Amino acid sequence: MARERVQIKTPEQVRAMRRAGLVVADALDAVRAAVRPGVTTADLDAVAERVIRGAGATPSFLGYFDYPATLCVSVNDEVVHGIPGARVLEPGDVVSVDCGAIVDGWHGDSAFSTVLPPADPQDVDLVATTEAAMWAGIAALHGAARTSAVGQAVDDLVGDRFGIVEEYVGHGIGTAMHQPPDVPNYRSRDRGARVQPGLVVAVEPMLTRGGPDTHELADGWTVTTDDGSRAAHWEHTVAVLPDGRLWVLTARDGGAAGLAPWLPTGGVAAGADGV
Ligand code: MF3
Ligand code: CO
Repeated sequence: MARERVQIKTPEQVRAMRRAGLVVADALDAVRAAVRPGVTTADLDAVAERVIRGAGATPSFLGYFDYPATLCVSVNDEVVHGIPGARVLEPGDVVSVDCGAIVDGWHGDSAFSTVLPPADPQDVDLVATTEAAMWAGIAALHGAARTSAVGQAVDDLVGDRFGIVEEYVGHGIGTAMHQPPDVPNYRSRDRGARVQPGLVVAVEPMLTRGGPDTHELADGWTVTTDDGSRAAHWEHTVAVLPDGRLWVLTARDGGAAGLAPWLPTGGVAAGADGV
């Protein structure tokens, strides 16, 4: 099978991607501070757009295949690609927020999920397990030969506790938001792309409290679970450095805290001085 070409980044290009990653981190921090019952998903979108524009950056989702907003905000049984609008967030909602920005032509892409109080403990478990699956998947890139290590690690962590969405996958990222290779969140016969210095991918597991199957709503974007179960989504953009260490470009600390349990003896380029 012919493979699409993977865009390998130079250290200087990875540093440029770090600037985009930090803008996304700032935007999502502002959204975290604003998300609560009573706000609309459009309110959150405005918060993110203000931060991105204020940094002199460009929202990457806006206009992507005519997508109409800066964020994707997906609530409860919505998995990904929820369009911000008049929906008012309610107590107990599971809210997933996905954000992308472009700086000097380079993209960053990241998402988090949270449960608004009062939280159902099973929703808290869903969100925490999805985040842990993301960190396990990222950590698996360290020392791996192939990107299929990500899906194996996510699958191992999740087991049969939650559904793993297969219809949407992680991806290469660089001068476009979506590049080869695909990075599935499940165990696959396809070994994927070679893990090598200059590889930059978005790792983004999506888990559900029910089955893995999803469908798109009539708005042409919003993806919901077929069985109505609640879903969560976490995502970071991560680079493999020349020495093999990982640099999580959309995490302010470079991934140090999230990867510490998985890579206790190092392997993470912390902070702003990754390369
Ligand atoms: N950021 C999403 C992803 O993780 C894609 C967003 S689709 C868009 O790959 F249309 F909203 F841009
Ligand atoms: Co993505």
